[in-house]
Amino acid sequence: MTSPDAARLSELQSALVRALGPNSVITDAAERANYCRDWHGDVTMDAVAILRPDCTEAVSRAVQTCARLGLAIVPQGGNTGLVLGAIPDDAHGQVVLSLSRMNRVRRIDADDFSMMVDAGCVLQHLHEAADAADMFLGLSLGAKGSCQIGGNISTNAGGINVLRYGMARDQVLGLEVVLPDGSVLDALGTLRKDNRGLDVKQLFIGAEGILGVVTGVALKLYPRPTQVETALVGVDSLQAAIELYRRARRDCCDLMTAFEFMPPAAFTLAREAMPSLTSPIAMDHPGYVLVELSGSGLVDIRDLLDRFLEGVMVDGLVRDGVVAASRAQADHIWKFREVMIEGQALRGLHLRTDVSVSLSQLATFVERAESALRSAFPDCMTVTYGHVGDGNVHINVLPPAGMDVASRSQVIHEAKDCINAVVDAFQGSISAEHGIGRLKRAEFEARISMPRRQLLSAIKRAIDPDGLLNPNCQLDQEAGQAARAAMSTS
Ligand code: FAD
Ligand code: LAC
Ligand code: ZN
Repeated sequence: MTSPDAARLSELQSALVRALGPNSVITDAAERANYCRDWHGDVTMDAVAILRPDCTEAVSRAVQTCARLGLAIVPQGGNTGLVLGAIPDDAHGQVVLSLSRMNRVRRIDADDFSMMVDAGCVLQHLHEAADAADMFLGLSLGAKGSCQIGGNISTNAGGINVLRYGMARDQVLGLEVVLPDGSVLDALGTLRKDNRGLDVKQLFIGAEGILGVVTGVALKLYPRPTQVETALVGVDSLQAAIELYRRARRDCCDLMTAFEFMPPAAFTLAREAMPSLTSPIAMDHPGYVLVELSGSGLVDIRDLLDRFLEGVMVDGLVRDGVVAASRAQADHIWKFREVMIEGQALRGLHLRTDVSVSLSQLATFVERAESALRSAFPDCMTVTYGHVGDGNVHINVLPPAGMDVASRSQVIHEAKDCINAVVDAFQGSISAEHGIGRLKRAEFEARISMPRRQLLSAIKRAIDPDGLLNPNCQLDQEAGQAARAAMSTS
């Protein structure tokens, strides 16, 4: 006999297929699971179905159909987000709406320094499309091969080029968004200056899909850098790395695109994930900095980098370093930075944080946080790395091999509280670039003022009164759930 739950599931799935067509709806349980697992594989959930619309109009129809059936929608891009924002948390009441079939570059206008694209375009494909037009897109991050521009916008992603080009928000010229009532907000212009009242598109940047489904994006482009120079240098401490950053800001003007800090453990972890990686520099330094300068036109970037490195070596800020002799060597150096994350994943369940404090306090902050972690978790490995120029580091805590899952979860919970307490003492942020999702909701809610909470709830209620979009993401949205529950039983 079919259980009531199974009968209801099958009824909802059939209704979705009827309304949206079989090509746009995945109902098979094994296939559903592929969209309901987070990138690290820490959490696996389920959904009624996976919707895969292929155009803005189809997204609109999907949204209206879900509203009619009382189903909430979890928008999903590349599913590389690290805070459980893109996977459902209610198997019986939610669908995943994947943007992956919306992957067209609508147009590139080199004279306007802009591109207009579908939200489901993979970031790396956009880099390639810009490159083919002799242009450059400023946003870049380790997940570029899988993450989508709609996801980047919805998380206001940071990444490795923020120093020069800013966060995702800074790249956006316009957006097209399907609202919870199915209407399409067309704010997809490419004007650089437009002060006609409130800039409503800003609401959807960093909204993590709780206000609308981003379907189209207009982005800024830059001239393609014709010279890119990459160096990996050894430093004595994080403090030395920050001093080096100040010098680089002063000496290299605005030509620095990346400045990433890595501890020695980063190299060990990277090699665990990719044993073929060979270190381009002696592995006996307390810290490493990956620095990249780039430019086009008349400046000699290599000469600038050489003179900068000479100066900081004479002054003892840098002990050792290597400048990549080719793009292939530069890519090899970058691989360490990118693959270390996979190395951490291979070590099993662990804590990942994403914190920021003012740059002037970053070294003291990290010292304080690492010292607290050493005392409380002497058996764990602490890996502090990241975007030091932005005042943003990831302080990750890896429990020892052999520790069981329950004990790991306990360590994660306590170590997170331990780091957050230090973040609070420094008036920092518990989410510098990854967002809140479902993972950090309680931490976020515990730290927002009443006026801010009321304002956020009022915005959510005004745009999505029935709580159709991404329930339980960012904020508690109980009111909407009650409304939907009433609808689905009527
Ligand atoms: P998803 O994970 O699919 O979704 C993220 C959130 O956005 C969810 O809440 C989802 O509901 C919502 N969403 C997705 N698409 C849409 C849409 N079209 N409309 C409305 N809502 C939508 N992040 C950084 O900031 N900097 C880094 O340096 C960085 N490095 C990373 C490296 C690795 C190896 C990995 C795995 C992740 C990294 N991330 C980083 C995190 C992640 O890649 C970013 O948050 C990215 O922007 C997410 O894009 P996505 O397409 O995968 O979004
Ligand atoms: C990074 C991601 C995890 O910087 O934000 O590696
Ligand atoms: Zn990061």
